[in-house]
Parts: sequence; C-alpha cells; structure tokens
Amino acid sequence: MNIPSALQQANSDHRTLARSLRSYSQQQHQRVLEIVDIQKAYPNKQVLEHINLDLRAGELISFLGPSGCGKTTLLRIIAGLEQPDYGKIIKKGQDITRLKPAKRQCGVVFQNYALFPNLSIAENIAFGLHPKQYSKQAKVDRIAELLDLIELPDIAARYPYQLSGGQQQRVALARALAIQPDILLLDEPLSALDAVVRVKLRQNIRLIQRQLNIATILVTHDQEEALSVSDRIAVMYAGKIEQLDTPHNIYYAPQTRFVAAFIGNMNFLAGRVTGNQQLQLIHSATEVQRTHRLEKDEWFEIGFRPENACLILDPPQQQQGLMI
Ligand SMILES: Nc1ncnc2c1ncn2[C@@H]1O[C@H](COP(=O)(O)OP(=O)(O)O)[C@@H](O)[C@H]1O
Ligand SMILES: [Mg+2]
Repeated sequence: MNIPSALQQANSDHRTLARSLRSYSQQQHQRVLEIVDIQKAYPNKQVLEHINLDLRAGELISFLGPSGCGKTTLLRIIAGLEQPDYGKIIKKGQDITRLKPAKRQCGVVFQNYALFPNLSIAENIAFGLHPKQYSKQAKVDRIAELLDLIELPDIAARYPYQLSGGQQQRVALARALAIQPDILLLDEPLSALDAVVRVKLRQNIRLIQRQLNIATILVTHDQEEALSVSDRIAVMYAGKIEQLDTPHNIYYAPQTRFVAAFIGNMNFLAGRVTGNQQLQLIHSATEVQRTHRLEKDEWFEIGFRPENACLILDPPQQQQGLMI
C-alpha cells in the first residue's frame, strides 16, 4: 500500500500534524450524532455488538473493515432503513431510533448510483425537495447551486445513462445534499469506479464536505481512502469497533492486533523476554496480548512497519538477540 501523503511525513512534519490536531480540537464539543450501545443480530448471526460512537460537527468518520463486518448494517441503522435490536441513535440530542428514514434529515449515497433512470438529472436532484418548502423558482435555483457544487453545471437536462459512473456518483451526492441534511451517509460510493476516478472523486467529496462543514460517515473497505480523507476512522471487525481514532493513530499506534495487521504492511515477530529490555526472537508465530511491561520469560509479538526496519550487518551486540 502507498502510505497517503498526509501520513507520510506526520512524524517529522509538525505543521501537518498541528493542522490536523487543530481542526480536530475545534470540533470536539458539538456532537451531531451519538450511537449508543447498538446491537443487531440476524437469525444465527450477531452482526453488530455494543457499537458506541459519536460524530462531531463538520467531522468525517470512515467505517473501515473487511467485507461482512457490519459497516452497511450500521449505516442503515443510522439512516433508519434497519432497526437495531438494542441501543439508541441520538441526533442533535434527540432520540431518533424509531423515527422514519424520511424524517431523519440524513442524505444517503449508495455504491451503485441508484439514480432514477427515467428522470432527468435536474429531476433526480430535486426529488427530495418538498413543494411546500421549495417554490418552482427556488427549486431551479437549488438545482443550479448543487450542480455548481459538483462542478457539472451544464447537465441539468441530461439523463443518467448519458453520464459516466463518476458523474453519476456526483449527481447522487448532489441529490443527497439537496435537502440540506444534518448528516451525510456514504456507503462505498466510490467502489464501483475505476482507480483514477476514485482518487479524484474522493478528494472532491472531501472538499465539498469541508466546504459545507457537514458531518459525514463514509463506509469503505479501502484503507488508503479512509486514511486519506477522514478526520477519524472506526476500524471494524466482526461486528465490533476495534479502534476509533485519527488516521495518524490508526496507522502509527494501532491498539489491537487486528488493526495493526489490517492497516498497511506490518511484520510480526514472536519473541521472549530474556532480560532487562532484551528480547529473544524466534521464527514461530505466537499470538499474545499487548503488554506494556516486559516480564522475564514472557512471550509476545512485536509488530513493525517495513519503513521502520533497517538492516545492520553483523552488529556485535545483536548476535544474542534484538535490543529495543
Ligand atoms: N438482511 C440480512 N439478513 C441476514 N443477514 C444479513 C442481512 N444483511 C446483512 N446480513 C449479514 O450481516 C453481516 C454484515 O453485513 P454488512 O453490514 O452488509 O457488512 P459490510 O457492509 O461490512 O460488508 C454479513 O455477514 C451479512 O451477510
Ligand atoms: Mg457493505
């Protein structure tokens, strides 16, 4: 994997880090969404277990995890398209767990473009605009505004089949934003697109999200995508959030073995403590708990990134083991 440039220099480039920390602390207080102990099972299968998470004003959180880990189910529960077995969804302080999807003020974009093929682009975008709230002229203005936002000002009269996949997803984004939602929910919106379009569009989405300062959840199984565009990432595995953290911490300070192994490349070496801060490494793969204190004779694994390894030829002090 290519480490996203935003992360590459993060250890040494204080400006990058300071910038990300600054935007993070500004957003700390206002919670737009709180997910409280959500649980969900299908027959014979627990899909979500004790999910807790808060989404702050203007923040973009990615749900990142392997296929089948529960990302879409969690997003659908937030959108109201699925009911949880237990737990609450709170939006701006209001319990919306039992509220109908249309009343939740969530804009949703799915993986497959899901535009109405028989409606023009303008009609697609205006689909959710209520006639009571938008006069005919207000509707026209709003459509023009959104087409400008997605940088496709001239396509109002076209139909979905006349657009590329990337353009269709931008229209789907415009349609989701039309109602001025409190939260934008994106379920793998880029995964059906080819690689170049995907990278460009994820930057567009991030720019628009920043410009509108809209709280957003992006579901993805693409770690580079999540690391590049997110304020925080919820790494999910088998129905649980393994770690909810900044991209920097997810990459440089993984809190579980799964996160360490899932994000980027990680080498694991099993070893045993042989003395004060001294490890003897062996070639078997033994899984052990994370440990802060090294007790003599304890077995564990160390994980390190390839970019942090350096080969030293025949250092005399390392013939017996590895110093850390
Ligand atoms: N309607 C359903 N009925 C039964 N099982 C389902 C249903 N929807 C999802 N699942 C199962 O729940 C698990 C999580 O699915 P999903 O949330 O779609 O995962 P992801 O989006 O992370 O790939 C999967 O094992 C999936 O097969
Ligand atoms: Mg999914």
